[in-house]
Amino acid sequence: MSFHPPEPFRIKMVEPIHLIDKPEREKALKRAGYNIFGLNSDEVFIDLLTDSGTGAMSQDQWSGIMVGDESYAGARSYHRLTDVMNEIFGFKHFVPTHQGRAAENILCAVILKEGQYVPSNMHFDTTEGNIRARGGRPTNLVCQEAFDVSPDIPFKGNMDLDKLEEFINKVGPENIPLGMITITNNAGGGQPVSMKNLRGVSKIYRKYKIPFFIDACRFAENSYFIKLREPGYQDKSPLEIAQEIFSLADGATMSAKKDAIVNIGGFLATNDSELFEKVKSDCILREGFITYGGLAGRDLDAIAIGLREGLQEDYLAYRLGQTAYLASELKKIGIPVIEPAGGHAVYINAGELLPHIPQPEFPGQALSVEMYREGAIRSVELGSVAFAYPDPDSGEMIYPELDLVRLALPRRTYTQSHLDYVVEVMARIYKDKDKLSGYQIVKQPKLMRHFSAVFEPI
Ligand SMILES: Cc1ncc(COP(=O)(O)O)c(C=O)c1O
Repeated sequence: MSFHPPEPFRIKMVEPIHLIDKPEREKALKRAGYNIFGLNSDEVFIDLLTDSGTGAMSQDQWSGIMVGDESYAGARSYHRLTDVMNEIFGFKHFVPTHQGRAAENILCAVILKEGQYVPSNMHFDTTEGNIRARGGRPTNLVCQEAFDVSPDIPFKGNMDLDKLEEFINKVGPENIPLGMITITNNAGGGQPVSMKNLRGVSKIYRKYKIPFFIDACRFAENSYFIKLREPGYQDKSPLEIAQEIFSLADGATMSAKKDAIVNIGGFLATNDSELFEKVKSDCILREGFITYGGLAGRDLDAIAIGLREGLQEDYLAYRLGQTAYLASELKKIGIPVIEPAGGHAVYINAGELLPHIPQPEFPGQALSVEMYREGAIRSVELGSVAFAYPDPDSGEMIYPELDLVRLALPRRTYTQSHLDYVVEVMARIYKDKDKLSGYQIVKQPKLMRHFSAVFEPI
């Protein structure tokens, strides 16, 4: 996409952000142990750490907040959300949850037994964690093109259908209590899944009577990618495409913090009435009564309105245009990025940008720290800090294929000039990139070290 549509909104409430000066940024970095998770938001100018729950709600969503019905059971807010759920997703039943991982937790609690498998294109880490927490085995079967750096592959999030069928036959359908797919594929760069692939996945799961659940966090962005890239969908609305997607599935989990453009919330939906009886009990135990599920009534209204807004075509054109614009501007100044750009984020190939920093010295971390030092921009390393692990037999470190830095764009939050600022900072970094040096870890926890490891410059 070369055309970058302007923001389809104007600003009537602002949240001030300040650029603290370089010596203060250096002090903040030292205090945080050179880990951007240790920075305070006041120390950050442009925060591209995540697109989850960081979007800006609209005037209609804030109005919805004011009419939220806080009744414990059967609130009007719940019924308003139900109407929208029926229109977009069309599943027979749903419960709200406080966020996406709560929906995953309930689903795994009611459907999964120890030792069973759950295939997907790529599970997001919370989904993977929830499956493992119940003794299950998450299995990723994304297509080979997901790892191809060529920019001309439109649906790198697709499942490999041959591998899926082979896998089902290998472990036996009786050992697969549910099958999933994540749209868009967050763990694989926010790349979309085509309708053709979704149809194929659905057909295979149905053939083996495996319930098909969609991780629907970014379903609206995925629907718009289908409209832009898949023959036969140009004249369909994102809503019609979404309806077609969900007609192929038996249920869904969703973090509403993404394409419902709210700061908190999620849901679990299913067509299976028997399963839903178990879901209800579990929801009451863990989240709250089934008509509010761990949220306030006002949150339900914000989600209902946000789900519809997230499907508006001018919004989606701007949204996907923003990531495409940032990726292409970075590319113009020589920064290697993963192409085509994903829906919610741009991924910089730090390993390629900084070839003089070996993987054990964390090129992604070096770049991420430098982006903060140079311009108070917060990004996140997704490379050897986040994913390297010791081989269980030899103890030798196994490094990931790519050392990436992710710039996730919060929805409706930053303007084009904020993105231009990011590009300017990156241009300054590019000029002196050969002078950057790596980092070593001086303290780290056993699991998920990227959140709290302490680093020192080498
Ligand atoms: C694809 C995907 N699934 C699930 C989740 C979990 O959602 P939450 O953070 O609301 O628990 C996320 C969050 O980033 C996600 O991107």
